[in-house]
Amino acid sequence: MSVWAVLAAAGRGERLGSDRPKAFARLGGRPLLAESLERLEDSDWIDAIVIAAPPEWEEPSILVAEELGAGKVNACITGGDSRSESVRLALTEVPEEAAVVLVHDAARPLLPEEVIERVLAPLGEGWDGVVPALPLADTVKRLEDDRVVETLPRGQLVAVQTPQAFVAAVLREALTGDLSQATDCSSLVEARGGRVKAVDGDPRLLKVTDAEDLAQVESWLAE
Ligand code: CTP
Ligand code: MG
Repeated sequence: MSVWAVLAAAGRGERLGSDRPKAFARLGGRPLLAESLERLEDSDWIDAIVIAAPPEWEEPSILVAEELGAGKVNACITGGDSRSESVRLALTEVPEEAAVVLVHDAARPLLPEEVIERVLAPLGEGWDGVVPALPLADTVKRLEDDRVVETLPRGQLVAVQTPQAFVAAVLREALTGDLSQATDCSSLVEARGGRVKAVDGDPRLLKVTDAEDLAQVESWLAE
């Protein structure tokens, strides 16, 4: 069974507000992209990697891979206008023989090997997709403008992270439709009736959105 990883790194990082795309913000003296790429390269579970790079940052992305000696990197494509579009474009470089695709956000640099293992295992038990999830600490409410209209049952809610793992054919099919509303790949698979399992996520998989997140990840990295 061959497992391909798609590293979604093509975003602009507007909320981080750096002078470069988020994948090239500095983390521990390296471009942020290097951290997750190195972990995918070193993972026993991953056979090959496709990077979705920000427009005009394809060459620097390849250079990061070369400097890491990341021989599993098979292709580096130019990302699209949305995350889903970037993943769809990356999938064109994943061969038909690939059994499983693991999609990961470069914005989540601290990728534990245990989580990769945890999201891959259930695919052998008939699940179409697997996502890492964390319970919510806060009470969650639905708003219309600023008026609270509903308090949601927290026990049934989770926050979902990446890496998300899918049967390759299922993900390919899910990415053929309307991608405009999707904020993750799982939602597209769910919308087509795919069976997606939630497994334990990891707080270290925090998504770097703003400068505070970057400082948090930096401090965890230094531990
Ligand atoms: N992503 C991507 N292609 C896009 C947009 C996002 O590959 N067109 C990737 C980002 O690089 C990131 C992940 O999807 O690794 C999650 O997106 P997000 O955290 O929103 O990153 P950005 O879109 O870069 O940040 P912002 O929304 O603040 O501009
Ligand atoms: Mg974004």
